[in-house]
Amino acid sequence: MNTFSRIIGTGGYLPKNVVTNADLEKTVNTSDQWIRERTGIEQRHVAEDGEHTVDLAENAARLAIEAAGISPQDIDLIIVATTTADQVFPSTACLLQSRLDIHGCPAFDIQAVCTGFVYGLSVADKFIRTGTSKCALVVGAETFSRIIDWTDRNTCVLFGDGAGAVVLKADNTPGILSTHLHADGDFAKLLHVPSGVSTNYPAVQEGRAYVEMAGSEVFKMAVKILGQIVDETLEANGLERQDIDWLVPHQANIRIIVATAKKLRMPMDRVVQTIAKHGNTSAASIPLALDHAVRANDIKAGELLLLEGFGGGFTWGSALIRY
Ligand code: ACO
Repeated sequence: MNTFSRIIGTGGYLPKNVVTNADLEKTVNTSDQWIRERTGIEQRHVAEDGEHTVDLAENAARLAIEAAGISPQDIDLIIVATTTADQVFPSTACLLQSRLDIHGCPAFDIQAVCTGFVYGLSVADKFIRTGTSKCALVVGAETFSRIIDWTDRNTCVLFGDGAGAVVLKADNTPGILSTHLHADGDFAKLLHVPSGVSTNYPAVQEGRAYVEMAGSEVFKMAVKILGQIVDETLEANGLERQDIDWLVPHQANIRIIVATAKKLRMPMDRVVQTIAKHGNTSAASIPLALDHAVRANDIKAGELLLLEGFGGGFTWGSALIRY
């Protein structure tokens, strides 16, 4: 009998500290109206000093484990998707593993920026399908606020911090039906943090390693590519647009989300939307949105979900899931 992976629990966590558009009006030349109209964002959560990516990841992971009704010791694979690791090493996944008192199972980070969670889900699904793993914890966690120049209105209004998690378990019936991953490094410079450990390390040490983005170019590419990945995912599964019950998109901009929903001819009340309250939390955005809809009792067992994301790299990907 074939082995598949199923999501058996979700969790989400947002830092307590909220920064509203009105707060940003006081620090950069912007307006609540501009931010709402161009992005759909009203507020974002920003981690306090001393609150780190692993803290957010641990909170989300514990909630997912509780929802799954398992013990941390049942987990035999930990993947954390993050752009904002706590340390150069060890990985945030290893830090999380220690927090959860889990010992010996593989634990590693994945870096695909906003597509990171979909990449992590795809890798965990393959571990389970090949019989290497039986119960995987996949987390998307970010303190993206740490790589934002809070004086740059082009970027600082867009992003926030948070973490989302799922527990995936081996099952005889499919939960994850297919995943589709892509990247094209030729577009690196349209959306990047130009400084890193081996390039301009002083900027990293001094906290000046910031996101730079050619917003409107990224916007156009995101709309085009997300439309293509919707087609690719439906075609691979022999499905029609109307078969999808819920679109769970990466939350970067409400206008990108609306364009993808249009492509699917999906009414907006079947599209999970957390952008207004969360902003763009990069790798955390999709699992946070999923957890939000599951806990609101919107997404129900047996429904068909399309998760899709696009981010720096460029990277993009999707997952089709029978929940
Ligand atoms: N407040 C007021 N005005 C602003 C602000 C702001 N916060 N930011 C930019 N503007 C100005 C610009 O300076 C420009 O002014 P100008 O015409 O005088 O030059 C004007 O607004 C229009 O700027 P555009 O960049 O053309 O605005 P656009 O409609 O494209 O919206 C935005 C900008 C929101 C950034 C949009 O392009 C976007 O969402 N891009 C995609 C983001 C994304 O999807 N990222 C991918 C995932 S993120 C990741 O992977 C890390």
